[in-house]
Amino acid sequence: MSDAKDTTLSETPVAELTARRAKVEHKQLAAQVQAANDAYFQEDQPIMDDAAYDAKRQRLVALEEAFPELKETGGVSDKVGARPSGKFAKIRHRVPMLSLDNAFSDEAVAEFVARVYRFLGRKEEEGIAFTAEPKIDGLSLSLRYEKGELVAAATRGDGEEGEDVTVNARTIAEIPQTLAGPDVPDIAEVRGEVYLGHADFAGINERQREKGLPEFANPRNAAAGSLRQLDATITASRPLRYFAYAWGEMPVLPAPTQMGVVETFRRWGFRTNPLMKRCESVEELIAQYRLIESQRATLGYDIDGVVYKVDDLALQARLGFVSRAPRWAIAHKFPAELATTVLEAIDIQVGRTGALSPVARLKPVTVGGVVVTNATLHNEDYIRGFDSKGLPIRDGADIRIGDTVTVKRAGDVIPRVEAVDLAKRPADSKPYEFPTLCPACGSHATRELNPRTGKEDAVRRCTGGLICPAQSVERLKHFVSRDAMDIDGLGDKQIEFFHGDPDLPVKEPADIFTLAARDAGNLRKLKDKEGFGAVSARKLFDAIEDRRRPPLNRFIFGLGIRHIGETTARLLARHYGSFEALRAAGIAAADEASPERQELGAIDSVGPTVVEALIEFFGEPHNEELLDRLLAQVSPQPLEAVASASPVAGKIVVFTGALERMTRDEAKAMAERLGAKVAGSVSSKTDLLVAGPGAGSKLKDAAKHGVEVIDEAGWFDLVGG
Ligand code: IVH
Repeated sequence: MSDAKDTTLSETPVAELTARRAKVEHKQLAAQVQAANDAYFQEDQPIMDDAAYDAKRQRLVALEEAFPELKETGGVSDKVGARPSGKFAKIRHRVPMLSLDNAFSDEAVAEFVARVYRFLGRKEEEGIAFTAEPKIDGLSLSLRYEKGELVAAATRGDGEEGEDVTVNARTIAEIPQTLAGPDVPDIAEVRGEVYLGHADFAGINERQREKGLPEFANPRNAAAGSLRQLDATITASRPLRYFAYAWGEMPVLPAPTQMGVVETFRRWGFRTNPLMKRCESVEELIAQYRLIESQRATLGYDIDGVVYKVDDLALQARLGFVSRAPRWAIAHKFPAELATTVLEAIDIQVGRTGALSPVARLKPVTVGGVVVTNATLHNEDYIRGFDSKGLPIRDGADIRIGDTVTVKRAGDVIPRVEAVDLAKRPADSKPYEFPTLCPACGSHATRELNPRTGKEDAVRRCTGGLICPAQSVERLKHFVSRDAMDIDGLGDKQIEFFHGDPDLPVKEPADIFTLAARDAGNLRKLKDKEGFGAVSARKLFDAIEDRRRPPLNRFIFGLGIRHIGETTARLLARHYGSFEALRAAGIAAADEASPERQELGAIDSVGPTVVEALIEFFGEPHNEELLDRLLAQVSPQPLEAVASASPVAGKIVVFTGALERMTRDEAKAMAERLGAKVAGSVSSKTDLLVAGPGAGSKLKDAAKHGVEVIDEAGWFDLVGG
């Protein structure tokens, strides 16, 4: 990897290079592209962004065009991806899985179209139709059907040979096991993209966090990591999705056009992208590109451009391929959402678990249409120029206050400081010193050793625990939050207010439940304070009263015990049934030889990190006292008790389309409160689909699986509210 050290691209035009310089540059670039391929395709851990990768690859190809002696057959410029990783058996693609050339401007698209016309010897008046469709940012998967039955699934690998992930692919709901239709050929290889939606990606990372496992950098990596699992039950637990858009071996094509084949795929049971459109001119292609780009933020999944393809398959066949890509298609990539600005300050935020997070305060700058003033700097090592494995990033350059930096905003993720311009660094700048004391309470902030890896945690944490005001405010916010106790009218702002209020201080969860009584005894009433008034004070007290009997899982989650997210909280609630039982187990489990320790460790999906976290939480005397005070105020309800009276108890419910009387989160919370399980997609296990206006494919899925469908009004009739 030492050859692969990232260097900026040379700006000397290729035509002006000497053969010697071209050779040196070619060698460096080939190593960098190879390393990037390995990192991207094998490790699911990209080491450079798409724009940097594309630029390097383009320069490499340009060098080889100008100096043909540099080109090696089977060299890196010929390869689409990287070799298979060796974990899986290999499958040789009968028709290679190719890649796409890229266009980065409208002019380049016009050139592509002109090239197609030229190649086919067609005049403009004769016209050639193209399709335009989103370029899904996932990983491609080839599915082989014989006599309509799925027999093999293979990743792209190096384009010639991929990995056999058949067992894993069978667990993906959106991949049909059998193809339906009179025109399904004996052999049909359907190709498309496996990807994850944004919400599902967030859920997966939440579970990674709960288990103390590293989080995925983006949905693409998470999808790749989920598909390429030796344990297919892990794949099955991840809501992977699939769009079909191409094909491999298919001796009899079901239609004469790209559009026609894709429409056939839909009839056969695949999902195809609704934004695919047939266009007659460059202008129409660009218009569809703009339309897709404008919907990018609300699609719910990542796309990184628009793919144009010649529609007529006879013309596609005539156009053929050049080394790694078809002549009849091109990917029009979205520009990276980057902007340059000045880093004015670095603030340290203290989270609920004491994690110190560095936040860049930036001179305001527009990135992809949004004004950005803050960006994440991740952690101490990132600022110093190292990644999570201790390897240098940005060529080892650190980030300093006063630096001119590049900010990147990708999709809906938090903007981040990506690169630093050393040429613009002020002469008097100094390396940033990450605080070793908590800025909120002054306690030592340390980096724990991870017991599993023996390595220092990337995160520095305040050791102040219960005395740290920043942690206690964040813990209170978490306790009342939507997914925990869900107290109406008590949000972040109100928690901050009460935390600092001398008349009605809220320093710990129990204080919330004594607010009304304390207010009654106070001379200065809440209703007279700014921002409240009689009605909102009354409503707040009512909302608090309403939560004195919270569902056990929400109560456990709300405690903010490290590594215990919603899912684990629910598991624990189900397993122990009452808070007393969980608490007794947590205390007894401190003894390593105890049966309680064994039982805790044996719960499915509860790993050693969670066990340790529970023991530590219940072993802390302060927490014991805090719990005693809290349990004097509230009585967590076992899940069954809440659920048994409800008509949807134990049912699997899916919500789709627009809901008018409640938000999606509210609907989910309500269903769960009533003992139902809310799923993201319809399968044969689904009991009920609640569909609002605009419901789409889920309705079809429901029909396919014979799932009962009701509307929002029907839902309220059913649950009585
Ligand atoms: S067509 C021979 N269509 O992009 C052409 N590819 O950079 C086959 N991709 O390997 C590809 N969305 O993984 C095509 N609508 C789409 C796509 C798409 C995403 C991916 C695919 C391909 C890569 C090429």
